[in-house]
Amino acid sequence: MLKKIAIIGLMMMNSALLYANHHRIAVVGTGYVGLVLGAGLADFGHYVTCVDIDERKVAMLNRGELPIYEPGLEDVVRRNTQSAVRYGPRLRFTSDIANAIREASVVFIAVGTPTGDDGHADLRAVKAVAQACARNLNGYKVIVTKSTVPIGTGKLIRSILAESQSDDFSIVSNPEFLREGSAVKDFFEPDRVVIGVDSERAASIMREIYRPLHQAGVPFLVTDVVTAETIKYAANAFLAVKVTYINELANLCDVTGANIKDVAAGMALDSRISPKFLNPGPGFGGSCFPKDSLELALFARDNGVHLDVVDASLTANNRQAVVMVDKLQRLLNESVQGKTVAILGLAFKANTDDVRESPALRIIGELKRRGATIKAYDPIATKTMAVLEPTLEYCSDVYEAVAGADAAIVVTEWHEFVQMNLEEVKNRMRVPVILDTRNILDRKALCVLGFSADNVGNA
Ligand code: UDX
Repeated sequence: MLKKIAIIGLMMMNSALLYANHHRIAVVGTGYVGLVLGAGLADFGHYVTCVDIDERKVAMLNRGELPIYEPGLEDVVRRNTQSAVRYGPRLRFTSDIANAIREASVVFIAVGTPTGDDGHADLRAVKAVAQACARNLNGYKVIVTKSTVPIGTGKLIRSILAESQSDDFSIVSNPEFLREGSAVKDFFEPDRVVIGVDSERAASIMREIYRPLHQAGVPFLVTDVVTAETIKYAANAFLAVKVTYINELANLCDVTGANIKDVAAGMALDSRISPKFLNPGPGFGGSCFPKDSLELALFARDNGVHLDVVDASLTANNRQAVVMVDKLQRLLNESVQGKTVAILGLAFKANTDDVRESPALRIIGELKRRGATIKAYDPIATKTMAVLEPTLEYCSDVYEAVAGADAAIVVTEWHEFVQMNLEEVKNRMRVPVILDTRNILDRKALCVLGFSADNVGNA
């Protein structure tokens, strides 16, 4: 399907030049979402200017370097920044937001919406972009929220735009569903495109923008703005609840002796359940599930509605790190106080260097609180973790991390850990104790090798 969409994209690119059905687009924010979106839309043949206030990031991008790690992204960025077509390269980077907005007919807002001190998403960056749009409204523009924004943000952006004394704009909510680590594939092969619009004119422009996906048969759901905003939160919180549910069931299997892998397989055979997001682990993390679940729960509470299931998922998720450290102590038969623990994996999941809300952070915090010394290794997320945890001992490979350790915990499901030489690991450890929080190692094989080993849910 990826190939098919790329071909349709390419066809559109050619016809874009002939029939001018391409758009000039500004994508504000060059994080995971903005960069993948900008590069992907350029690949569809549009002329995209990615904007970031961080001039260092823009300079990096203009040198051809990516500020984030995302498999496959470099290729898409390169082929579009180097594309020599009639109007210059299809993908450009700048920190000049005013000019990028003035040139564009469609502005995607893809800036960060981190959790603020009050638990709500901090909308300062979104508001700043909306104000910039208001100041540079030199003709009809479609203003699209791509960042996950609280329900009702479309209305807020409308009120900011109204200050421009013009009504020559449309507000659209086009939530992003891509996952870090497979973001490029997710962009070209989404399960669906959701477009929340306030006018038919905006809906038809959005269909044009995503034409290659439409032509490839990807389902499009067109709704009003507030419904699209709600869909994003509803989907993320639902998946977070699903992960929490399997985590708690795994904890139960640890007690009963049932095997969580088989339990999940038995559940997944019911087509209403689906096998996806049924892998137990150390708790969900990342830039979306924790933040979006919290925002949705608070938003519901502020509006007098109970979303107890979402509240409970957040509570249980925070507890899962403690459950993991308790498990390690049971394996050791004593407290971790004074022990050296090797943390294998820092990223919140494999194939990303992102450590935001990573379970590794919570596990490290809990181990430190209980007096353990930590050695840490991750194939690519060491640098990002060192910003948050500067005092840890970071190692350059698995074997250095486990050398002299009293225990090791696999926290991220990196393929590298599946393939590690367990004999070598055992020989290097002071005591061969291993907790596999992702169920990627063969527990029986570990025991045969002489490890004291455990995983999640007796898998
Ligand atoms: C998520 C959504 O999937 C995506 O649609 C949205 O756009 C952004 O948020 P992402 O945060 O990149 O994507 O990661 P995802 O693969 O969904 O995993 C989220 C967390 O759940 C990770 O910590 C992951 O390890 C955990 N998880 C996921 C499990 O523990 N078990 C599972 O079975 C699935």
